[in-house]
Amino acid sequence: MPFIVLHREGQTYRGEVAENSNLVVKAGIRQFPYPHLRYGCGMGKCAKCACRVLKGAEHLPEPNWKEKQRLGPHLEEGYRLLCQLWLKHDIELEQDKEPLQPLKGEAPKTEASTSQQP
Ligand code: FES
Repeated sequence: MPFIVLHREGQTYRGEVAENSNLVVKAGIRQFPYPHLRYGCGMGKCAKCACRVLKGAEHLPEPNWKEKQRLGPHLEEGYRLLCQLWLKHDIELEQDKEPLQPLKGEAPKTEASTSQQP
């Protein structure tokens, strides 16, 4: 069973989860790491679930296209989107106080879509 260590705002939270757990899904059903993990869409769009992986990154799969789009250079700093990860091994994570801004979020409104049509 993966053992999770989550650091956030100076606090450390620890817990075990079943193999192949997704921490955003777990938090969504109010199991550990609820209520300590910030998350949003659960679909790789908002980047609110982004955490820096301090230990255990070597066991994770390569970032998927959503992580690459949303995190870009933050991947090099060790950030991952927790909603996109199903954990099989122990991991230590840190979530920043302020959420990362997703590099590519919802499509920006274009002038055409915001201008008033007569
Ligand atoms: S919860 Fe929105 S990207 Fe993970």
